[in-house]
Amino acid sequence: GLRTRRSHSVGVIVPDITNEFFAKIVRTLDIFFIKYNYSVLICDSNEDPELEERHIQDMFDKNVDGLIYVSGMEAISSLVKNPRVPVVFIDRSPKNAEFVVQSDNYQGGYLAGKELCEKGCTRPLLIRDYRMASTIQQRRRGFLDALAEYGKTCEGNFEITILPDYKSAKEKVAEFLGEKGCCFDGVFTTNDMMALGTIHALAEAGYNVPGQVMIVGFDNVSLSEFCNPPMTTVAQDTEQMALVAGEALLKLIRKEPIEQKEYVVPIHLEVRSTT
Ligand code: RIB
Repeated sequence: GLRTRRSHSVGVIVPDITNEFFAKIVRTLDIFFIKYNYSVLICDSNEDPELEERHIQDMFDKNVDGLIYVSGMEAISSLVKNPRVPVVFIDRSPKNAEFVVQSDNYQGGYLAGKELCEKGCTRPLLIRDYRMASTIQQRRRGFLDALAEYGKTCEGNFEITILPDYKSAKEKVAEFLGEKGCCFDGVFTTNDMMALGTIHALAEAGYNVPGQVMIVGFDNVSLSEFCNPPMTTVAQDTEQMALVAGEALLKLIRKEPIEQKEYVVPIHLEVRSTT
């Protein structure tokens, strides 16, 4: 038969494998591709652009048949410009991508803002990823639009920008509380790990959640349910995101047509005890 350089494997690259959001996507992709006899190479860039670049190069050297790129940042555009194999994007995405799967991030941000306002929040604080990826822009827009409907804003330094993890959120909120006291009564964080850090910083400073400050996270990782108090969050359907991306990559590898270039997965608000 024809000799091909392909390896019957696909690469998956994520920015933070310790975040359950990404771990769940990886698991579903692995189960999916194994069914089709593809092995899966998993790389974690630890949010480091150089490492990300290197992992991608490695996967090309190993002749992967396709790549699923989850929430990538830096290497994104060069990948789209020089596609050596088909690439499907999950979550954050560049323009001109062949195929993108993402949650309805605008609606997610909107529901978070509406929930806080309806439960009586008067001084909302937004804590978001400092990088303005498409997903974060949309969440922020949705959130601010909902606030505007209730006559509220985040103007006047009520928008904090940090790395999207537990530690950064905990430190930054502790610092904010130290400098300004508890001048806010509701927080939306653009992921759950940041919400968890916020809850812990508030608890350590002696503030009651949700009595003094309400919180809405984003993702619905299991920690959001197991933390104290269990957290209200915008749930992303990681399984559907991964399956849609897997199907699309298979089609691209087989050079089958894809009807649409973008797929938006619905989100829902999981109301628990922080609002
Ligand atoms: O928790 C990781 C976050 O980064 C998720 O919300 C995901 O959508 C990504 O943007």
